[in-house]
Amino acid sequence: MYGYLILAHILGATVWTGGHIVLALAVLPRVLKEKSPQRLLEFESAFERIGKPAMLIQIVTGLLLAHRLLPDISLWLDWSNPISRVIAIKFILLTLTILLAVDAKLRVLPKLSQQNLWDMALHIIAVTLLSIIFVIVGVSFKTGWLY
Ligand code: HEM
Repeated sequence: MYGYLILAHILGATVWTGGHIVLALAVLPRVLKEKSPQRLLEFESAFERIGKPAMLIQIVTGLLLAHRLLPDISLWLDWSNPISRVIAIKFILLTLTILLAVDAKLRVLPKLSQQNLWDMALHIIAVTLLSIIFVIVGVSFKTGWLY
């Protein structure tokens, strides 16, 4: 079971983080150069269809993996336990990612134009950096970098 969980978790990570790196490094520079909100909206709507399920898989498999490492859920937010600390960092990253996504969806995207393109660009850069930190924090469960 552990093998399938970690496989699904890593596949989800490749889609989520890889997709955001492509968006930030390949799509976004052209969008800004050409001042083309349309190009950005096209990528967003295509990526949304695989990015959202990938994030959902991350959350479900992440919760199951955390439960496997630390079956007592009441300890998950205990900052004195090194494993709980890494799990808590994952939750903080998730909260920041959700806040940025909600702000983009409700405030920025409905009025996306050449004027607020940089507002959207900053959201994309922030979510991409968070997605990379997600992977570093995930790997640190094995390497102990954050213990
Ligand atoms: C609520 C969300 C999440 C939780 C609770 C969570 C939890 C975990 C746990 C417990 C592990 C360690 C598994 C083990 O070694 O037994 C792990 C590993 C990992 N996570 Fe997450 N995770 C979450 C989201 C994410 C996201 C969004 C990404 C990347 C986009 C990610 C990337 C990774 C990676 C790369 C590993 C390393 C796998 C390995 O050691 O082989 N995680 N995660």
